[in-house]
Amino acid sequence: MATAELAGKHLVLGMTGGIACYKIAELTRLLVKAGATVQVVMTEAATQFITPVTMQALSGRPVYTSQWDARVPNNMAHIDLSREADAIVIAPASTDFLAKLAHGVADDLLTTLCVARECPLLVVPAMNRQMWANPATQRNVAQLRADGVETLGPDSGPQACGEVGDGRMLEPEAVYEAIASFFAPQVLAGRRVLLTAGPTFEPIDPVRGITNRSSGKMGFALARAAQQAGADVHLVAGPVALDTPWGVFREDVQTAQQMHDAVMRAVPDYDIFIAVAAVADWRVDHASDHKIKKTADHRLPSFTFVENPDILAAVARLPHPPFCVGFAAESGDLDVHGEEKRARKNVPLLIGNLGPLTFGRDDNEVVLFEASGHTKLPRADKQALASTLIAEIAKRLPDTSLIS
Ligand code: CTP
Repeated sequence: MATAELAGKHLVLGMTGGIACYKIAELTRLLVKAGATVQVVMTEAATQFITPVTMQALSGRPVYTSQWDARVPNNMAHIDLSREADAIVIAPASTDFLAKLAHGVADDLLTTLCVARECPLLVVPAMNRQMWANPATQRNVAQLRADGVETLGPDSGPQACGEVGDGRMLEPEAVYEAIASFFAPQVLAGRRVLLTAGPTFEPIDPVRGITNRSSGKMGFALARAAQQAGADVHLVAGPVALDTPWGVFREDVQTAQQMHDAVMRAVPDYDIFIAVAAVADWRVDHASDHKIKKTADHRLPSFTFVENPDILAAVARLPHPPFCVGFAAESGDLDVHGEEKRARKNVPLLIGNLGPLTFGRDDNEVVLFEASGHTKLPRADKQALASTLIAEIAKRLPDTSLIS
């Protein structure tokens, strides 16, 4: 998951005491892989959970744990370490550390760095559910938010202590995504984006059906990029084996009719609709409610098909449609079919590609079709392309689709 937003960024990754420290090894690996410089600073308590040696090996830089570290020549570690930083991320952020931050305490290297910083501060709380629910913790978190500190999580679920509830740290991938979002240009801030993605599945009987080879990767990448660009995102997904992008609301469906109904229910609340799904054009009329068996005389089954609703066209026909973006996967003559399809569906923007060649692949090459002509974008991996497409969509939004 290459994320251009993190390449070249300088992060101070502050670790405080908590069992979730083990997850920071993976977070560090993801950040370094994305091209960020990660300067790890640990509190004394954090070193009880994971060693500085491990964090040094993963970050590729010396780890600092003390304000009195002789490696910093002028003894100004608390200023020097964050001088170049684009952000300080505290993960895990313990109850105690949040309390200190909320009160401006500066009694060790990490707290002093936070108080002396000029860059944004992101905290990733991790604690037992009772500690999280404690009114003092809630007061401290509210104070930190009011002070402009970004809070990522916590998550809900099983905890190291055996209890279940709010307070556990977000998974490393989710923290990574949230940090990437923090740095992404907020070109869709305040916008609401509805997307369809993946194939549909049209049943023939309870065990068989008709589907297609769409992996859903492009639609999911766009949902993730839209979320990172500041939008509220609702993703209506056909059957795919993909994780929900962080911060995205996902609704799973099987058939084209279900996808249509889900979209039509949601669409009044959205100002952008991006139809990426490879929707089945037809479904079997009266799918059998029992498994169709072979017959003794080898008679072949026959099916009657009926046409599925065209979701994109239906949305574009609404009296007050959102800004509609279509996708077209063609097997040839993209230039001709792309523009023809855009005009037929009556949408301002259609993104065309040679689909059957790219299904399941991690990269893609697309052409933008609009009334004024078409533009080819360079081949890129699907996530980078998704960010580019989101920026292209943002540029074309009419002011009338702004949420008041
Ligand atoms: N689409 C849709 N509902 C359908 C069919 C397509 O919303 N029932 C949307 C797709 O999500 C995509 C665009 O319409 O954004 C074009 O899809 P495509 O399958 O290429 O178009 P079709 O109209 O089905 O044309 P074709 O005859 O090439 O299959």
